[in-house]
Amino acid sequence: MELSEHILKELNKIKFNYIHPENKRSIKYQIYKKIRKNFFKNDLFNLNQDSFEELDKDYLKKVKIIKDYNHMSTPAIGVMFNKICRLLKKDQIFVNIGAYKGFSTISGMINTKCEVHSVDNFSEYDKPEKIMMQNFNLFKKENHYFHNQDYELFFKTWKKKIDFYIYDAWHSYEQQYKNLEIANEFFSKNCLIYIDDYNDHEVQNGNPNIILGSRKDINPDKFYDFAKKFKNNGATILGGCCEIGPSHINEIAKLK
Ligand SMILES: C[S@@+](CC[C@H](N)C(=O)[O-])C[C@H]1O[C@@H](n2cnc3c(N)ncnc32)[C@H](O)[C@@H]1O
Repeated sequence: MELSEHILKELNKIKFNYIHPENKRSIKYQIYKKIRKNFFKNDLFNLNQDSFEELDKDYLKKVKIIKDYNHMSTPAIGVMFNKICRLLKKDQIFVNIGAYKGFSTISGMINTKCEVHSVDNFSEYDKPEKIMMQNFNLFKKENHYFHNQDYELFFKTWKKKIDFYIYDAWHSYEQQYKNLEIANEFFSKNCLIYIDDYNDHEVQNGNPNIILGSRKDINPDKFYDFAKKFKNNGATILGGCCEIGPSHINEIAKLK
């Protein structure tokens, strides 16, 4: 079956029930939770588990014990965060702004050596401070820290370089822009920056390339060399985003 046919078939299975805004939150919330659960299962099912390493499987087994683990994100994203943090060394640092109940933060704590700092001021949603702390403490090691404060306050005393940064807090254009401007001072040379919910219009307008500037030195030849290294190390899907254009893609297409 063609992929488009498969997608249409799956989409046809979705039924929408109209929920009037005046309905009680509890009803909407229960339905939402049910949808999330199925979404999570589907995402897990669609992960290509044949290419999983033992530590990926171990991560998925462990992360499931956290309370409400399927609330804001999905296993595919969690595996990606976990893989990135497993590659960081003991003296490297993962900072997660916006923790909620801890999924993204804890994904960086399982089977990893890096220092982890998680920041949340519990200003949104159901303010799950207690659940976050319970979840966090299940995996906490001596180099894992939780900061119950606004990220602006957190950065006022922060001094170290950051190697992996997740921003998943308030998504207004102003906040998206401001957090990158502040955190930029601390990014290490090869820092990986993950901006959540990039399909959101305000998030996109706070585009890291616009705020932090762009690199002109990554020409198609250099990009080819990078991609070749990734391929030789086992990458099976190669691509690019942000500043990568057709000339870069033409170059890496030669690696087929
Ligand atoms: C989308 S949730 C984070 C989800 C989380 N990354 C996960 O994997 O489940 C956003 C969180 O950002 C927090 N937040 C919003 N504005 C903030 C700020 N200025 N400083 C710190 N945390 C903030 C909220 O309290 C909320 O818990």
